[in-house]
Amino acid sequence: MAHPNNLVLGGWDISSHNLAQSMSRAQVLDYDLQRQIYDEMSALKPLPSIYYPDFIAANQSDRANNVLPGTDKWAHLEKIRADIRDFKLVNSLDKVIVIWTANTERFADIIPGVNDTADNLISAVKNSHSEVSPSTIFRSGLHSRGPQNSFVPGCVEFAEKHRVYIGGDDFKSGQTKIKSVLVDFLVNAGIKPLSITSYNHLGNNDGKNLSAPQQFRSKEISKSNVVDDMVAANNILYKKGEHPDHVVVIKYVPAVGDSKRALDEYVSEIFMGGRNTISLYNTCEDSLLASPLILDLVLITELMTRIEYKTEGVDSFAPFHSVLSILSYMLKAPMVPPGTPVVNALSKQRSAIENIFRACLGLDPQNDMLLEAKAFH
Ligand SMILES: NC(=O)c1ccc[n+]([C@@H]2O[C@H](COP(=O)([O-])OP(=O)(O)OC[C@H]3O[C@@H](n4cnc5c(N)ncnc54)[C@H](O)[C@@H]3O)[C@@H](O)[C@H]2O)c1
Repeated sequence: MAHPNNLVLGGWDISSHNLAQSMSRAQVLDYDLQRQIYDEMSALKPLPSIYYPDFIAANQSDRANNVLPGTDKWAHLEKIRADIRDFKLVNSLDKVIVIWTANTERFADIIPGVNDTADNLISAVKNSHSEVSPSTIFRSGLHSRGPQNSFVPGCVEFAEKHRVYIGGDDFKSGQTKIKSVLVDFLVNAGIKPLSITSYNHLGNNDGKNLSAPQQFRSKEISKSNVVDDMVAANNILYKKGEHPDHVVVIKYVPAVGDSKRALDEYVSEIFMGGRNTISLYNTCEDSLLASPLILDLVLITELMTRIEYKTEGVDSFAPFHSVLSILSYMLKAPMVPPGTPVVNALSKQRSAIENIFRACLGLDPQNDMLLEAKAFH
């Protein structure tokens, strides 16, 4: 794998703050650490980015002072491509991987003829169609993945056509990660979740953006689908189409800052119609959980772009599909190649990564039978 110290970081932001100013505004890192790295951080200044106010909350407008001029979306796309080419050249890089970590956008409407195919999407960008979001422009023709709902069907087709890799939506850092462990445990233990109720409050800029209804709706969807495959796979506990009530609430409470609070209640049916209620209170410094996921996404993606494999009965070696489902472990709303199963259970996602890496070393998959330790001697 590439060593993290060999990564060169760069990026865009609609806010002109350099990273030292952003760091003190965010109040996430310990003050003494901020003091020690202030000078290095002030040298990092984001490039101007694409700002279409319709896609993020109106309350973000006061920070949008570093934006690409004009409304010509094709010109914006060309500028982003040029930024990436320059970045690669100036830093003599082998590869560029783009992660969208900007604010949650509202969902783009899927409109036939506009964003349903790769060709239509490119025409829509050329015509500066109003349903083309900033993240879609970043996605058009890059190695990219990240926490957004920008994977309109045209983007996915574009990635397949141009053999670039995409991963899925939204970092899985706190509440959803626990959910993908707990529901897997409950359902597979025969304990049937009837309701999952998740309250969040947070006070950082992410929370401020999510306080607008359309941006909240995007987040609600990326958080809600996480239990679907586990429920659908257990046809003993759940009849076809039956699923637990699942509610997600997010509120903006500035006073708690980046220290996000997640309160979850799981009510399940157990033996003889009994009830089991689990209540969780999770306080997490959200950005400190999310940032390592960003590094892992980059490092694993980079490695995957260099692997070719074949399975039994297949003649030639082939690279991984453009939709890199191995990244599911880090993402709330993973994507998978069309027609293949979505897996949300965290332990299965982890075991896929571990066993693919073992295969790269010529080792058998880990099956956890430990027969050598179970024999009667
Ligand atoms: N922080 C976490 O721990 C965490 C965890 C899971 C998911 N997420 C998701 O990651 C995303 C970012 O979260 P955050 O906490 O870093 O939010 P943030 O508001 O602190 O940072 C987002 C940054 O994106 C910038 N931005 C907005 N639109 C842009 C554009 N078009 N181009 C370039 N920059 C733009 C903003 O100016 C801001 O600096 C959100 O979707 C959030 O829900 C965050």
